[in-house]
Amino acid sequence: MLTISAHTLPTKLALTLIICTTLIACGGSGGSNAPQSSSSSSSSSSSSSSSSSSSSSSTGGSVVGLYELADFPIGIAVSAGNESRSFLDLEEKQTTITQHFSQLTAGNIMKMSYLHPAENTYAYGEADTMINWGNTNGLSVHAHTLIWHSDYQVPNWMSSYTGNWETMLNTHVSEIVGHFAGKVVSWDVVNEAFENTVIGYRNSIFYQKLGADYIENAFSAARAADADVELYYNDFNLVSETTKLNHVLAMVDDFQDRAIPIDGIGFQMHIQIDYPSIESIRSAFKAVVDRGLKVKITELDIPINNPYNANATVYTSLTEEAATRQRQRYFAVVEAYLAEVPAAQRGGLTIWGLWDGDSWLATDNDPGWPLLFTGPANGPYEPKPAFYGVYDALSAP
Ligand code: XIL
Repeated sequence: MLTISAHTLPTKLALTLIICTTLIACGGSGGSNAPQSSSSSSSSSSSSSSSSSSSSSSTGGSVVGLYELADFPIGIAVSAGNESRSFLDLEEKQTTITQHFSQLTAGNIMKMSYLHPAENTYAYGEADTMINWGNTNGLSVHAHTLIWHSDYQVPNWMSSYTGNWETMLNTHVSEIVGHFAGKVVSWDVVNEAFENTVIGYRNSIFYQKLGADYIENAFSAARAADADVELYYNDFNLVSETTKLNHVLAMVDDFQDRAIPIDGIGFQMHIQIDYPSIESIRSAFKAVVDRGLKVKITELDIPINNPYNANATVYTSLTEEAATRQRQRYFAVVEAYLAEVPAAQRGGLTIWGLWDGDSWLATDNDPGWPLLFTGPANGPYEPKPAFYGVYDALSAP
């Protein structure tokens, strides 16, 4: 499992090793190159953590970054541009990101309303800055997302557009993909177009205007604008809602029959600590693998409380028990990914935020603690047991 990522530039490796001399996740001098868990009761999923990391770490027992354990991108969703707590304003975020991740995704600033605020205006500056930082520091960029129904993400001018929708959306896609050609490696072309219903297609403004055609039009326009970028369809609950997954698979089959370009399926995976089952996750991955497409986990986060399960234990803090369960859950998801998806079809694994305080799931009532690192807000960020769940799974032989 231990191969150096394609994004592991020599400069990045050197940077990692320098950083690793000072940070907590870099292991100690105790013989194992793997980081030591802060959870004493977490051994159940960590048996393989120490053996396989030694071959790529340097002398002195430095621990490798997460991305160095994987032969596919290990991504992180970031705030950037004018968003609060932009990683570009916080050196500690940059430190942790370069140490452990090989890919960036904008949590927001590459969505429709940000990039295309008026019909004839494209606003690329913030995204360009983020992408330049990534590419300078050895991180690729998975871009998110060209078409998404979410009300606040459809620009106002578009919602009230009265012209030719097909032409307008094709222009939207081809302008944006063309601008970023060569700078991003993949796109979530269409986000959340299906529902878990008999009809399947979400009754979005795009569907109302163009029917299902808007989806294939977007993929074709994206391919025409960049022959090399990987094109994903991205959605949530694909590992838990079989009807919805089947609609997506039917779309894939139809695209493949008619040579509509598509390279992979993005599984958002905003999942629960106890739901869905690992078997369900595995069979969803397998269904996509069987069609020859890439599987990318695009937005993984796993809060410790499941509000939909009335019988679940409710944690009001990140107890050792909760942290251990979360570690085991992260381990199991990554283990399932590695088991079901052959190396050539692994599009990557992206975590939807760096540290718990940054998570979109955190509320005043329940912080959720869904991510791999803990704060303080401005860093330095410390790996949680959940981090070691991912680390151990990636390290397994
Ligand atoms: C979320 C962001 O993380 C939040 O900051 C924002 O307020 C709402 O959108 N599925 C997606 C992502 O595809 O774009 C969403 O991101 C989370 C759900």
